[in-house]
Amino acid sequence: MSKKPLILGIETSCDETAASLITENEQGIPVVLSNIVSSQIDVHKEYGGVVPELAARSHIEKIDLIVKKAINESGKRIDEIDAVASTAGPGLIVCLSVGLSFGKAFALAIKKPFIAVNHLEGHALSPKLNSNLNYPYLLLLISGGHSQYLNVQGIEKYKRLGTTIDDALGEAFDKTAKVLGIEFPGGPQIEILAKKGDPKKYILPKPILNKGGCNLSFAGLKTSVLKIAKTIKSEQEKFDLAASFQNTIEEILYKKTKFAFNEFEKQNNLNKKVFVVAGGVAANKKIRSMLIKLCKENNYESIFPPIELCGDNAAMIAMVGLEKFKLKKFNNLDHPAIPRWALDENAIFLKGAGVKL
Ligand code: KG4
Ligand code: ZN
Repeated sequence: MSKKPLILGIETSCDETAASLITENEQGIPVVLSNIVSSQIDVHKEYGGVVPELAARSHIEKIDLIVKKAINESGKRIDEIDAVASTAGPGLIVCLSVGLSFGKAFALAIKKPFIAVNHLEGHALSPKLNSNLNYPYLLLLISGGHSQYLNVQGIEKYKRLGTTIDDALGEAFDKTAKVLGIEFPGGPQIEILAKKGDPKKYILPKPILNKGGCNLSFAGLKTSVLKIAKTIKSEQEKFDLAASFQNTIEEILYKKTKFAFNEFEKQNNLNKKVFVVAGGVAANKKIRSMLIKLCKENNYESIFPPIELCGDNAAMIAMVGLEKFKLKKFNNLDHPAIPRWALDENAIFLKGAGVKL
């Protein structure tokens, strides 16, 4: 029996300090041995958003302990680790630098290879931690900083089919929560409030719904929610606005995902059609069930990471590390932190005023 790779993953790109050890079983299926995530919600709550300097300080304070805990919980020894994978970008540079430097130093100390990981690739590969997933697949990545449809053809091989031209979907959830007076981070709360409201009460805009292929836009929707929120007088109206927002997002994603299916099928010769949804917003149960229904209607297999692996974590970073380790794709110890790092580096920049769709 050959030794299976044991990978330490480290994640500090934003406000979660995380470390994880993963390996694979005899059948080559990944196995998560430990997955420690320390969130900084309490640090940032009073500011209503992530404060980079405070986030970095908190990563520095906790990183040793979190990595130690991940190693202890895995039941493995340090000298059994085969490679160290750290997030190198995209993210807040002061935060990235903590996990990146720690990972490099750790790899150097144990004399094992170092792997620099794109955080978005971590999300993209996160469903591999609980399902048998082969390339190519269509990915909808919906997080706090990104909203994209990607044709995933292999490790480091991504073709962007569509992206948001303004706000990310998670950002739209968080801003809606904020105007409804919900404490940071409010995104997940919207789904809960929405259950008590009337989804048809407010007619909200669906920007670029019928143009721009599977590109997305949420800024106009956010502005409209803000205007209505100022007129709200009762708790029930608050629930109705949350429900109307949630419903509008579902309608936008339903239509845009259909465009993405078309694009994906044009670009690939497929025996099997697979649709993967990842990133923090993939934890939204109503969005999940709507997309599962859409997949059934269009003969797609739908795959989601487990809820606890939708948000930021280090198991997904170790997952990319595992694939790269097997391909011997290692990085030098002078690898920089990369605050802006697209998965498809050939895709054109589609943000801001004057964007033509
Ligand atoms: O992937 P993630 O943990 O961090 C980034 O890389 O951005 O995503 C965080 C985002 C936040 O905007 C959060 O509000 C959103 O995911 N989110 C949700 C839900 N759970 C997390 N949005 C809607 N419904 C949820 N249940
Ligand atoms: Zn993320």
